[in-house]
Amino acid sequence: MQDTSIDPRVNLPVRQKTSLLESEGRLRHVILASQFDRERIDDLCKVAEQVREIAEAPKGREELAKLLPHLNVLLYFTQPSTRTFLSFSAAARLLGMGVEHARDAEMSSEAKGESDFDSVRMFASYFDAIVMRSPKADLAERCAYMMNDLADAKQNQRSVPIINAGSGKDQHPTQSLLDILTIKRTFSRSRYEELHAQDPKHAFGVSQLDVGNKRYAFCGDVGRGRTIRSLAELLSNYENVSMCFIAPDHPKLQLSDDMRNLLLKRGVEVEEYGSLDVKAGKKWLLSTVDCLYMTRVQSEHDDNDLKTFLKTADTSGCHLTVARVHRMKPYAPILHPFPRDSRVMEIPTEIDNDPRAMYFRQARNGLWARAGLLAHIFGKDKKLADVHADFFRERHDYNR
Ligand code: CP
Repeated sequence: MQDTSIDPRVNLPVRQKTSLLESEGRLRHVILASQFDRERIDDLCKVAEQVREIAEAPKGREELAKLLPHLNVLLYFTQPSTRTFLSFSAAARLLGMGVEHARDAEMSSEAKGESDFDSVRMFASYFDAIVMRSPKADLAERCAYMMNDLADAKQNQRSVPIINAGSGKDQHPTQSLLDILTIKRTFSRSRYEELHAQDPKHAFGVSQLDVGNKRYAFCGDVGRGRTIRSLAELLSNYENVSMCFIAPDHPKLQLSDDMRNLLLKRGVEVEEYGSLDVKAGKKWLLSTVDCLYMTRVQSEHDDNDLKTFLKTADTSGCHLTVARVHRMKPYAPILHPFPRDSRVMEIPTEIDNDPRAMYFRQARNGLWARAGLLAHIFGKDKKLADVHADFFRERHDYNR
């Protein structure tokens, strides 16, 4: 059962919604990609990097575990997950938090007819944050507004942050944060110097030392991939970014009108293709991109129409092959949110050892990005920066 008083907020323009999801200039709930402007993305990536650097040493991990030992988080996942679930769990533990999970609605009182809203409200009685993944596109958003209502002066009830860990076909904002962190790390000065030292012609230009000034390609289930939707939106915050979308020839798999309009409105140059094996002007498309983001076909969302299409359609133009990787720029990272589909192999395993294959590192970056995000939500980013400063002063004791 839904609380209809929440409907008007769900229907607000995005700009107005984002202010409902913040508190005192800080993210209170993490629900929409639109909550991340460039300054916020850059700040959160900086916090994530600090967590990563501190966690390198056992003493650093001891310090991190002192940040939030008084808090407990619930992972409420009613859709399958490996990376998001485990990296949130590991991130929370890294900061000293207690972690529990509810993954199977059949094993909770939802099986006795309890609504998901009642369940989430109950979870807030025992936990200090709820990370949730749901097949319902707007459930996390609705729960966030419910928490706001519970917190208001009249109700003054338990109310905790809600973090969207994947909502239907719509959004996966924390994935896009770790994707940007991976892009930043890939195009960092240290990587630039490393590639230059190996062979300068393999290196990217100085103007490309961050996320902007690049051509991104997204391939696979462009229409229903929530990671693509969220990442494309985050990337549109950066200057001089262009995007190519490569999808099989079916409208449900291709770029949706709402995404195309959002990107064009933000001044992003958008191109659309049906295969990786095409030319963009006189050059192979893949030879023109600075970063390739692959996805699997999200068959869990297939309706009969799409099942019929996929039974006979040749989607191999949207699979990566060694020959296609050879066409790519020598520095261009290959990302994939994973899982890849082992039945289809949109990225065959022989590509895994190519230095451009970043998808395993990308998954590990989820740990740092999510720990940084939890530290931010609970106001520990300043303390974390102090720990980082102290820790590195200690490690590089220049007075010695
Ligand atoms: N990238 C991602 O969301 O992976 P999981 O579905 O395994 O969490």
